Amino acid sequence: MDNNKKKFEEEIDYKAVLKNPVRWFGIIYPYFFLVVFVIGVYYVSNIEKIAKNSVPTPLDTAKAEKGIEMKKGKTLPPVDLSIIQNPSQDLISQGEQLYSANCASCHGDNGEGNGPAAATLDPQPRSFASKEGWINGRDFYSMYKTLEEGIQGSGMSAYEYMPPKDRIATILHVRTLAEFQKVTDEQVQNMDRDFNLSEGTKTANQIPVDLAKKVIMEENRPLMAKVDSMAKYTLKFDRLEGSEIFDRVVRDRKRVFSSFIASNLSDVTVGEFIDKVTADPLTNGFSADVMSLSDEEWRILYTYIKKLMIRYSV
Ligand code: HEC
Repeated sequence: MDNNKKKFEEEIDYKAVLKNPVRWFGIIYPYFFLVVFVIGVYYVSNIEKIAKNSVPTPLDTAKAEKGIEMKKGKTLPPVDLSIIQNPSQDLISQGEQLYSANCASCHGDNGEGNGPAAATLDPQPRSFASKEGWINGRDFYSMYKTLEEGIQGSGMSAYEYMPPKDRIATILHVRTLAEFQKVTDEQVQNMDRDFNLSEGTKTANQIPVDLAKKVIMEENRPLMAKVDSMAKYTLKFDRLEGSEIFDRVVRDRKRVFSSFIASNLSDVTVGEFIDKVTADPLTNGFSADVMSLSDEEWRILYTYIKKLMIRYSV
């Protein structure tokens, strides 16, 4: 060992090397090469990340799924628009009753914002007479909008279930509590346009997108499990006639089965099967190669898929 070391030292004359810096290169070179090599490997293995623009892609808000709240559908009867500008005395007193029943607890009998419930509210209802600081506005259109949508972040909730005529009557009464500007034809037209007054409204039940997805997934869970099993089966070795064609023309096994689960293949003829697949092969899980099948191959493919569906009792 000692001997070896000695030999080694004799071979490289370190003192001479130190004296002559040009010789250092021989010692440093391998390390230099190693560093370049390591950086190179790092660069190549991360090329995807390095090459990518580091600025995050802005979210396309127009396409983002909008979270909507859960709402029950409603049917609201149409109203005669003329009652807005030319209300009968009856309608106004009906509005007074509606106001006492629905609004006075907060807004006060005289609309001064001093109803018994007002003290606990933040923000407190302001007086209808004051002209400052309204969020939607004091005109008829804006007050109707307030009843339709409520005022976010305040105790003012939406009165969308109140029939439009009752809402109009209530606003008509509010308008007797203070000075308000005359209702213009334009406002009436805009109300009609935006709130379907003269047509009435019928809206379907509405549930949030996420919840809807969950419901659909839950409902289809047993079917999806079958689709999974069928897709797995097609990958097995003990194969039925047709598996070879299936492998050749199918791009997405699960998709093929899910597209046919809905249409119940036992009622579908070969011709209809071909029509459906060729109408949109990719969406149905096939590759474009499916278009070049012969009649005989179509029949075999159809029988193969049908047999599997029967086997999994779909
Ligand atoms: C639970 C209490 C409460 C009830 C009940 C209530 N409101 Fe309100 N309302 C508020 C509060 C709080 C505000 C927000 C402060 C403000 O603007 O006065 C408000 C605001 C308003 C506004 C002004 C919106 C704007 O543009 O700023 C109108 C108009 C209004 N309410 C009408 C009504 C009518 C009509 C009813 C009855 C159908 C009613 N409110 C029932 C609490 C209530």
